[in-house]
Amino acid sequence: MAGVDLTGALVAWYDQHARDLPWRRLGVTPWGVLVSEFMLQQTPVARVAPVWSAWMLRWPQPSDLAAAPAGDAVRAWGRLGYPRRALRLHECARLISRQHGGTVPDDRDALLALPGVGAYTARAVVAFAFGQRHPVVDVNVRRVVARLVHGRGQPGAASPRRDHGDVDALLPDTAPLAARLSIALMELGATVCRAAAPTCTQCPVADACAWRRAGYPPAADRPARAQPFPGTDREVRGRLLDVVRTVNEPVERARLDLVWPEPVQRDRALHSLIVDGLVVRRPDGHFALPGGADCDPGGGDPGNGEPADQDPIHRRATT
Ligand code: ADE
Repeated sequence: MAGVDLTGALVAWYDQHARDLPWRRLGVTPWGVLVSEFMLQQTPVARVAPVWSAWMLRWPQPSDLAAAPAGDAVRAWGRLGYPRRALRLHECARLISRQHGGTVPDDRDALLALPGVGAYTARAVVAFAFGQRHPVVDVNVRRVVARLVHGRGQPGAASPRRDHGDVDALLPDTAPLAARLSIALMELGATVCRAAAPTCTQCPVADACAWRRAGYPPAADRPARAQPFPGTDREVRGRLLDVVRTVNEPVERARLDLVWPEPVQRDRALHSLIVDGLVVRRPDGHFALPGGADCDPGGGDPGNGEPADQDPIHRRATT
């Protein structure tokens, strides 16, 4: 790779070919970037884009979301999946309002202390919102590095220290340029250097790619398979929450019973929604989103002991 200006080639490619995603546009605030990173943990960009846009219109500042009931956040989350993220983002907005004067902090450790913000999200926000120099490593970036630098078709098991070190070695010293390279690497992995069908003819750094030079040796390990969804508790939770979310008044139990025929699994899913704080049981036995009057919170603590973000170094790609 000696002599090849990887940064120049990748940043120029990004400027010309990157997808026009709403959270990347000029004028997007750090809050907008933080919201996008919450939504993009686990969910593809095409599904996130309309929800993000509506969210930012409704709650342009953290204080706007902080002032709304948590149930409004869950409803606006729509069908993005993993809805506990909505509760954590709501809690995050409250803490930003209370502890940071309503401004998203530009410090990685301060971000890490917020609910729902893990190592990946904190790095992504300081890089993409504040132009700082931090390796931002998701599965797409790991795959680009595996091919470009190490000559392997797939990245293999994650190792945050090694993965961050690999990317750190690629980043230029100048912070804003490093941040631009970070997003370019991510975009290259999402759109060109894809897991199954890379389009190397469109790659701006194909000439420097160790995997290509080695003749594309096949990966020893197969890319991880996506988690199955049909029939899982996650599907049942989604169906139950859809009912509570889309009906504007509290719903009775019989209505929820219609969404899934198997009572044990249905009860388990409903119970877990209540424990997570996504659904509350009212004194009259009806079910509703949290934050309304007259609700029994059911002992749920939305942030309780969950990993903050789902370690995106391991998470599946969200292109
Ligand atoms: N742009 C900024 N962060 C992103 C992400 N996590 N996925 C896709 N595009 C992004």
